[in-house]
Amino acid sequence: MRLITSSITAIFISMFVFVQKPVKAQEPSELAQKGKIIADQNCSRCHVVDPAKKFSGISSTPSFQILVTALDDWEKRFSSFPSRLPHQSIVRFEDEEPEPNTTELRPPVILKHEDIDALVAYARTLLK
Ligand code: HEC
Repeated sequence: MRLITSSITAIFISMFVFVQKPVKAQEPSELAQKGKIIADQNCSRCHVVDPAKKFSGISSTPSFQILVTALDDWEKRFSSFPSRLPHQSIVRFEDEEPEPNTTELRPPVILKHEDIDALVAYARTLLK
């Protein structure tokens, strides 16, 4: 009986340990790696995207690391950044026409809808 009780306890403990395993992976996921490439290509002319390249970007624009560290709702903001200032005039999705009375950046920042998930996954890797 004692053996059964301790086996059951051991099973429960190991389940608990398994469930408690940290969510943050050691290696960035494929999605996050894709997000880094998209960010390097499309966001780094303004934002410091990769903390290892701190002299990229322009100093008036917050770095990705600052955004994810300082803002509790960073995930919501990254998920909706195309409609947040100043991006409405900077970014468009490939299935959208350019705004008739605006001049696009050169090269323009044109994203696929699924790029947003990748950018959010990359931003998550910058959380300390
Ligand atoms: C032409 C410059 C420029 C480019 C390109 C750009 N951003 Fe930004 N972004 C800014 C500036 C400037 C701000 C700060 C706005 C402010 O202070 O309210 C900002 C803010 C943000 C914020 C925070 C928004 C908020 O409301 O708090 C996010 C998230 C963001 N950018 C993501 C991106 C991503 C992802 C890309 C690339 C796909 C990108 N940005 C490309 C200039 C840019």
